[in-house]
Amino acid sequence: MSPVHARAVTAVAPAKINLHLGVGDLRADGYHDLLTVYRAVDLWEEVTVALAEPGGDGVRGETGARGRDSGSDDDDDEITVTVSGPGAGQVPADRTNLAARAVELLRSEAGSDARIAIHIRKGVPVAGGMAGGSADAAAALVATDRLLGLGLGRAALEERAARLGSDVPFCVRGGTALGTGRGEELATLLHARVEQHVVVALADGGLSTPVVFAELDRLRAERTDLPRAGGTESLVQALAGQDPAVVADLLVNDMEPAALSLMPALRRTLRAGEEAGALHGMVSGSGPTCLFFCGDREHAIRVAAEISETGVAREVRITHGPVGGARIIDGPGAG
Ligand code: C5P
Repeated sequence: MSPVHARAVTAVAPAKINLHLGVGDLRADGYHDLLTVYRAVDLWEEVTVALAEPGGDGVRGETGARGRDSGSDDDDDEITVTVSGPGAGQVPADRTNLAARAVELLRSEAGSDARIAIHIRKGVPVAGGMAGGSADAAAALVATDRLLGLGLGRAALEERAARLGSDVPFCVRGGTALGTGRGEELATLLHARVEQHVVVALADGGLSTPVVFAELDRLRAERTDLPRAGGTESLVQALAGQDPAVVADLLVNDMEPAALSLMPALRRTLRAGEEAGALHGMVSGSGPTCLFFCGDREHAIRVAAEISETGVAREVRITHGPVGGARIIDGPGAG
């Protein structure tokens, strides 16, 4: 039975992939205009927000570390972060964490002085170009909204999400959507029903998103012949059809040359996927994760096994999309 007042709420939010990622020139505000087709896939971040007892220590993660070096604020203990799961050690467990920033945003909006303990269970590769940190923020927004009884609707949550990061609104919304602006302006593609089965090849190490954008600017200044993605009309049309192979032919990522320039070993990964018979292989977002699109789940299992055998990837997973956006899985009103 759900208590009337939540003491803890758990929400999940999905990873994203970009089926089309067209990057414009650097803007005056330091961002790039994007034209992208986002798709949410079945890899999830799980975030629990819990009201900590006054004077208590908050929740502790099994493998998590208490927030440290969180600045000189005297309210250091008001929000604590613990992290568990693959790559947890690389995630900041302080108030620079995007989930902590999401909680802080809603807490100050509510005028609340509640002490809130955040626990993050990682399911999305860290610094992998799949919006793991953005998914943390999305799940934290949805969970905190419920914990503090704010009752913000989807649109209001997405507006808060856009303040936290370009990919965060999409992690709230899920499905398949056209993204413009710096990626935060969304239009859901309701007819994008072709399901995709995707092999996800994780690399050793991560790539920083701003560093990859800067590398793209550098390459473009050097080489004016670098290809640029065109419009999304054909892809949108193909997504409304039946055939994953037609969709696969239209996938494009302007950031790929920059990710390959910073991490040349990814070329071997892409070659391995091609040799394994994937319909299409490409770098995911800013990388370094590589994606291999397959015809169906059985095809994906075969491709994943072959890529695994070559040893080019740190880890190989299979996923599929589209899936929904951030949602509460535990706490009042869950399910
Ligand atoms: O929006 P977010 O905080 O996730 O972006 C991180 C960084 O990635 C930005 O500070 C910017 O350097 C780069 N970025 C960009 N253009 C975008 C999105 C992100 O240049 N559309």
